[in-house]
Amino acid sequence: MSQVTLSGLTPTSSGIHLGNYFGAVRQWIDLQKEGGAHYFIATYHALTSVKDPEVLAGNIFGVACDYLALGLDPEKALIYRQEDVPEVCELSWILSTLTPMGLLERCHAYKDKVEKGISADHGLFAYPVLMAADILIVRSHRVPVGQDQKQHVEVTRDIAGKFNQLYGDVFPLPEPFILEGNAAKVPGIDGQKMSKSYGNDLGIFEPEKKLRKRVMSIITDSQGVDDPKEPEGNTIVDLFKLVASEEKVEEMAEKMRSSGIGYGYGHAKQELYEAILEHFADARTRRIELVNNPDKVEEILHEGARKIRPVVEETMEAVHNALGIRSRSRNA
Ligand code: ADP
Ligand code: TRP
Repeated sequence: MSQVTLSGLTPTSSGIHLGNYFGAVRQWIDLQKEGGAHYFIATYHALTSVKDPEVLAGNIFGVACDYLALGLDPEKALIYRQEDVPEVCELSWILSTLTPMGLLERCHAYKDKVEKGISADHGLFAYPVLMAADILIVRSHRVPVGQDQKQHVEVTRDIAGKFNQLYGDVFPLPEPFILEGNAAKVPGIDGQKMSKSYGNDLGIFEPEKKLRKRVMSIITDSQGVDDPKEPEGNTIVDLFKLVASEEKVEEMAEKMRSSGIGYGYGHAKQELYEAILEHFADARTRRIELVNNPDKVEEILHEGARKIRPVVEETMEAVHNALGIRSRSRNA
């Protein structure tokens, strides 16, 4: 049987960053060639942090433009908004009745946020269950994500296994699909995992001036222009590896190791900035066209919503039958 793929991104800001792209979206683009791919915008998830309606609407549109500009193709994949599949909320409730509290208490996304002092509400706590519903409603086999989401896919497997055990086989057990190497955990400008919520991200579609300023603010040690520097584990080099050829990376590493050649971190950052712009030049141009053509973007999302309908209805019917919810008036 062909593989069903599903993934999504939370519109907590309007722009995708390098971590999102290299950790997740780049694989989505590769996988869409195989067919059976579903990529959505996780609006309900964003509600746990975005409370301003205009900002939320802008973010949803922004992420849709990012997806399309980077190469998600509506001819190859279903691209839709979570709110066009409100049944995920129903399925999420159903799954929550099978989810032990302890399983959610162990989830690091929730634990990290609480530790950082971000106040927790029920939505934040229960969000892995909604994520499970997103994955299971299309009966997905694989979920291409960055390393940080692995645990959530494992939670989904647990919940799906429990459902199948109690009610009969309805769901495949999905596998996380995670790249090896430095794309699995792209560092941000402070060297920690790049994340919107840590404010250390480099947005792919930032205006040039702002992007340059962000790159220039990458934290380094205090080695001066003539001092030798260690390229291994250096944030600038790790980011450069993602956007430049091996040869260029080796050149940069060589210059860093040398002493007395007047090559400082500022020079390396300038090279990184230029390489990011070059790597994403076409996508940046395409995004401007999309932003200026909101009707086209809306049409694509509308079409995605239309195509996902039968998939969702088939799953929900199987779920209702399994549970013993067979009210005929619900479909009247
Ligand atoms: P953020 O942490 O910025 O809020 P999201 O949680 O919305 O990002 O992540 C969207 C997708 O991008 C997920 O699949 C996630 O695993 C991936 N991702 C996010 N940040 C990184 C990173 N620094 N390195 C690798 N993948 C990442
Ligand atoms: N939680 C994911 C993130 O923060 C976004 C997401 C929501 C998702 N539902 C999903 C990812 C289902 C993959 C599958 O990145």
